[in-house]
Amino acid sequence: MIKKETIDRIFDTARIEEVVGDFVSLKKRGANLLGVCPFHNEKTPSFTVTPVKGIYKCFGCGKGGDAVKFIMEHEKYSYPEALRYLAKKYNIEIEETAEKTANSAEDDYKESLFIVSQFAQQHFSTTLLETEIGQSIGLSYFKERGFREDIIRKFQLGYSTDEWSNLTDAATKQGYKTAFLEATGLAIKNEQGRIYDRFRGRVMFPIHSLSGRVIAFGGRILKTDPKSPKYVNSPETEIYHKSNVLYGLFFAKKAIREHDTCYLVEGYTDVVSLHQAGIENVVASSGTSLTVEQIRLIARFTQNVTILYDGDAAGIKASLRGIDMILEEGLNVKIVLFPEGNDPDSYVKEVGAAAFKEYIEKTQKDFILFKSNLLLAEVANDPIKKAGLIRDIVETIAKIPDSIKASVFVKECSVLLEIEERVLLAEFNKLKLAQAKKGSQQAKVQDFELPPEPVEITPIALRTDDYQEQEIIRLLFNYGSKIISTEEGLEQSFAAFLLHELEDTAFENKLFAKIIQVYQSQLALGNTPTDNFFIQHAEQDLSHIAISLLSHTYQLSENWKNTHGIHVKQEEEILKEAGVNAINHLKVRKLNGMIRQNQDKLQVAKTPEDIERLQRIQLSLTAIKKELSKALGAVILR
Ligand code: UTP
Ligand code: MN
Repeated sequence: MIKKETIDRIFDTARIEEVVGDFVSLKKRGANLLGVCPFHNEKTPSFTVTPVKGIYKCFGCGKGGDAVKFIMEHEKYSYPEALRYLAKKYNIEIEETAEKTANSAEDDYKESLFIVSQFAQQHFSTTLLETEIGQSIGLSYFKERGFREDIIRKFQLGYSTDEWSNLTDAATKQGYKTAFLEATGLAIKNEQGRIYDRFRGRVMFPIHSLSGRVIAFGGRILKTDPKSPKYVNSPETEIYHKSNVLYGLFFAKKAIREHDTCYLVEGYTDVVSLHQAGIENVVASSGTSLTVEQIRLIARFTQNVTILYDGDAAGIKASLRGIDMILEEGLNVKIVLFPEGNDPDSYVKEVGAAAFKEYIEKTQKDFILFKSNLLLAEVANDPIKKAGLIRDIVETIAKIPDSIKASVFVKECSVLLEIEERVLLAEFNKLKLAQAKKGSQQAKVQDFELPPEPVEITPIALRTDDYQEQEIIRLLFNYGSKIISTEEGLEQSFAAFLLHELEDTAFENKLFAKIIQVYQSQLALGNTPTDNFFIQHAEQDLSHIAISLLSHTYQLSENWKNTHGIHVKQEEEILKEAGVNAINHLKVRKLNGMIRQNQDKLQVAKTPEDIERLQRIQLSLTAIKKELSKALGAVILR
């Protein structure tokens, strides 16, 4: 554990403007510094650093804290990792507590594995760069492949000699216990109890954790040998869980955030080569199939993944399922194919960095359209196969959590597959309902551990005079989590905006009133509910109405388009007006009701005072109504 004195020194030394300044460009604004927030998407800066207080605060997204918090948030570091980062930045020597009781035995054990891995990396690098055998065999191999020395050093590449225990011997000589060498998989004990190195006669690619510590290795054979595998990799260990690691992410995360895109490649050498070409937002799944954990790792930095594929059609078909998983996590997926026989590494070397980037820009295809095309080529004119294809594609589209995005794909695929949109849409709604049904059943089982009751899905019947309220709920479901900018240049969710505009207009429909309440309490907690929040809601009525209104948008937009030539996209663009408009409609309706009531009272009023009072009320109500109608008219006429 890091000593309290060290922690204090780190806090005393670290200057918030310098720590933040490494990642955000800041401009002076009085006593503060101002920049564009790195934690949410904004164009006008609302990210403020206050040096005297040692804190940062974003007035757009609300994130704030001190220097350590900033590093934890920005680099996704744990508390001790952030402290280590700052200590390194300010050349502060880290003193650790001696008393072992402060550390759990497990932490100590893991720490030993980290340390022995770091030793191995240094040993392999020294062998590569500073020994004769390393230079003549390992380094010359890398040079032949065109890897520059600065890149070799950056990725801490190395060489393990073709001997049985070169690393093990060096490590034991330095006092490292063989138990740790075994536990990291660097050494293996045979049946006779003899210990030997796992990696022999291979160039070494260390694998780094998100905070840059070496946790494992991949070792590549130098010459083709059908008897041994091209790569030998570290096994699963206490510090290396393959499914949670992406090769190169430590080096890529900054660029991924900057470009708001992550390139996904297959191999170690693809990552290294692209870096050398100046393309740094790239990670590799390292030959294994992609896991949900790896996708979530990417999602911490961007929502956009572009897969750079070197496979043939058969290979691609096999991995289509894995890609559906990326969609399910809500990410946008694009695909780039390389010419036969090329991988990103060989292709960038062949055409150069500029042409490579251009190739990606030009040929990248959205995954769903790519998949549709690929499968379409196969079914040709076979109608039965085509029906299967439609189901397959719609299933993929239904995995996209954002229903607006999904509806766009329904439209595009209908054109591509030459199928009427409403056919796709019907299939799509069917799947969404099934998903919701499944989701709520699962929720029930988890909550109460009771067998699920059969769920009846019935269409939601709405009273027509609930229409104005429904319209507001529809806008909330469809666009609530969209970020809009306010008059003051700040950014907020459309839901927050709408609720604010609603003031305390009461909803009569009980279900709608409940939804408004859910929004209010979620927003108060700092959450903006997405459509999935309601679609998967354990309460049936909420999930039903969400599905109904979310698919409603689409059909509605079609009507609009046909009758008025308006497209739904415009609703998105004029979101604020649409919201105010809907609220005003509701208010006008409520006013009409109040005016009617007041008129009824007037009819039966007896005393002159009563009549006069009611007439005054009548006047002011109609005045308000006139104002609102004027506002509505302005929006409608625009
Ligand atoms: P590739 O065969 O495409 O390797 O495997 P590569 O990275 O392009 O290597 P070069 O360019 O031929 O030197 C892709 C990835 O699959 C894993 C490795 O992570 C590799 O980078 N792999 C491949 C293995 O783990 N073991 C193997 O035997 C082969
Ligand atoms: Mn390759």
